Amino acid sequence: MHCALVSRTLDLRSYFGKALDGIAEHIQAVDHPADDHAEQVQMALAWHPPADAFASYPNLKAVCTIGAGADNVLACPSLPPHVDVVRVVDPAQAEMMAGFILWHVIWHQRRFASFMAQQKAKIWKRLDQRRPQTVSVALLGYGQIGQRVAEELTALGFPVLAWSRTQKPLPANLRGFHGRDGLLTMLAETEVLVNLLPLTPETRGILNRDAFAAMRPGGYLIQVGRGEHLVEADLLAALQSGQLSGASLDVFAVEPLPQDHVFWHHPQVFMTPHDACDISVDALAATLMATATAVQAGERPPHAVDRQRGY
Ligand code: NAP
Ligand code: GLV
Repeated sequence: MHCALVSRTLDLRSYFGKALDGIAEHIQAVDHPADDHAEQVQMALAWHPPADAFASYPNLKAVCTIGAGADNVLACPSLPPHVDVVRVVDPAQAEMMAGFILWHVIWHQRRFASFMAQQKAKIWKRLDQRRPQTVSVALLGYGQIGQRVAEELTALGFPVLAWSRTQKPLPANLRGFHGRDGLLTMLAETEVLVNLLPLTPETRGILNRDAFAAMRPGGYLIQVGRGEHLVEADLLAALQSGQLSGASLDVFAVEPLPQDHVFWHHPQVFMTPHDACDISVDALAATLMATATAVQAGERPPHAVDRQRGY
């Protein structure tokens, strides 16, 4: 089967060449625009596709993303309505995401930013040692990554609250919330807010002034969802007022972050360049193979997202 590689922002071969080489016997990767093979292309691997990309492939059946989130493929205007969009569900990514988030929770809990400032100023001063049991952590999104994050946080003693769209059974050491009312109830008890939501029309702009105001004063934001979840001006105001004490930001509305952006030198912001965790080569290869098998059988591929719901 022919698979078109489609991205405006990444050279997919240099990122995932190993995955493509490993399955080359079954799936032939062709660079977009694959003019010589346009009719044969039945699947695509895409990340931030150009707006007209999918119009080139009359027999396209499925598009795989290279991540857990499918938002940038779903947003492509030329994506035909019947085409399945497949995301990658990778336990190795969830494990790495959990480690990343845990580190930022502890960065806040143990006041490491203050220790760094003290070291710079040669100040020897012990700080209040807060127990994890006193630092409530709320997860926006309790999906495949959120569940793994919750396991790691609860194992260390942090009280964990989890918000999802639908109500679901939870382990005894977690408290679950759903819906708009559930969100406000949860935020009132939240010190650290971790965003692990997919970007959909319902979740766009959810990290805003109302959400920050509903949190415990001096709270902390860990933003690893998508940049468009955050209203940047509202975050800056919440940091300025002290309603939030700091924020760890991995994703941004414009990536790479423009050179003149205030976040680069903001003393309360800890930035990483959308680097919380990529999917693994093995998970991508397995996803492409499972998608090709399903397309050949005329079936819906595993991990095809619900296009109406947006994730
Ligand atoms: P997932 O398994 O699809 O889980 C999504 C969770 O969000 C589910 O619990 C879902 O609720 C909840 N949700 C969706 N819409 C909601 C709404 N309107 N209200 C309340 N809850 C809502 O996704 P995942 O694999 O955990 O990944 C989550 C996101 O993390 C990705 O979409 C991506 O944006 C981000 N991500 C970022 C990085 C990075 O490097 N920064 C890496 C990986 C992923 P239900 O359970 O009720 O469906
Ligand atoms: C990364 O952002 C992903 O969605 O996997």
